[in-house]
Amino acid sequence: MKGRHSMKLMTNKTNLTGTIKVPGDKSMSHRSIMFGAIATGETRIQHFLRADDCLSTINAFRQLGVQIDEMPEEIIVHGKGWDALKQPSQAINIGNSGTTIRLLMGILAGRDFSTTVFGDESIAKRPMNRVMLPLNQMGADCKGKEGTEFPPVTVKGSTSLQAIHYEMPVASAQVKSAVLFAALQAEGETTIVEKEKTRDHTEHMIRQFGGDIEVDGLTIRLKGKQEFTGQKMVVPGDISSAAFFMVAGLILPNSEIRLENVGLNPTRTGIIDVIKAMNGQLTITDESRETGKLAGTVTVSTSELVGTEISGEMIPRLIDELPIIALLATQATGKTIIKDAAELKVKETNRIDAVVKELTTLGAVITATDDGMIIEGQTPLHGGNVTSYGDHRIGMMLQIAALLVTTGEVELERSEAVSVSYPNFFEDVASLCQ
Ligand code: S3P
Repeated sequence: MKGRHSMKLMTNKTNLTGTIKVPGDKSMSHRSIMFGAIATGETRIQHFLRADDCLSTINAFRQLGVQIDEMPEEIIVHGKGWDALKQPSQAINIGNSGTTIRLLMGILAGRDFSTTVFGDESIAKRPMNRVMLPLNQMGADCKGKEGTEFPPVTVKGSTSLQAIHYEMPVASAQVKSAVLFAALQAEGETTIVEKEKTRDHTEHMIRQFGGDIEVDGLTIRLKGKQEFTGQKMVVPGDISSAAFFMVAGLILPNSEIRLENVGLNPTRTGIIDVIKAMNGQLTITDESRETGKLAGTVTVSTSELVGTEISGEMIPRLIDELPIIALLATQATGKTIIKDAAELKVKETNRIDAVVKELTTLGAVITATDDGMIIEGQTPLHGGNVTSYGDHRIGMMLQIAALLVTTGEVELERSEAVSVSYPNFFEDVASLCQ
């Protein structure tokens, strides 16, 4: 395990102004390596997210025998097709990355060997039945640690996977993608019915790499035994990383922040809808509308915010942004209610408990519910000792919260967690605070 650190956060800031080019999208970066690895030919990836989680995906595929070059301007994956993946000589360590372990299981489900995959102490608590059950139904043999559903998981693949009709019990792009990767290797046509629409990067990349997939509302149809061809890709900026600066620009006095090249796939833009519903000043310019590559410049400025309700089909469109949205709500007048978000309990940490506890320490008025939280605004924040719980998004949210603190200091434990998705986060915040 990497060393733990604590640090004194930047506090008491106003006048945040400037431009940030946020790092590459995490979900797309993972998938670009995976498709590159199973495709035939070279895949060249620009603006790849070089953060711990995506580097875990690179390491995993190197252990499976794929040559991946990390060049200054791009990542080059030398794919030789599904059958070139080889049994690794050791168990694969995917660190903190839920996306890596779950999608990888879908790929391994159709391979002719057995692999053990493990991660850090957060991964060891994350539920895997949601992936193992459908993959085992298709003919793979996946097992968790000592009869549980928890990692380390061992996946014994099968070259005769069968297609499945799968009605998803949870709204999860990771589960959907794991089943899609297995279905691409299976005999017959798979149908997946989503509970709610979740991020659709896997579907877009299947097409981009030359495969076929049919999407009709919540129903997805996919034929098995598909092969892919290497591609050139440019990953847009991650809206989930941009979200921290959107909120900073909205809640800090006299601020205006421009975020360039932010990915705007509609399955990811729930936070923009919420900001607008809360009366936030947000504009989008320089939009590129090419399918699967939607991106634009998002500009936010200090706003008089009002509380709102966030629930239902909106939740998967902003699931990773809920910690920073909770902070936003502490600065709005009136009540904000977040519900239908019980999935927050099984993220890198229990994000309902973490957000409620740490923001309460800083003076927020916020209550946990079974499936979300209720936030009363508008509350001033004060200093205190807080922790990220090893969760990157909790750590980044707390730094943005600290900027509002006018009395006392804020000490963040486990600040190293931010490198999971945004290694230069603190430097980028500092660049706006001149
Ligand atoms: C992701 C899906 C979401 C999200 C995670 C990334 C993906 O997880 O929270 O950060 O890339 O597919 P779930 O599928 O568990 O909702």
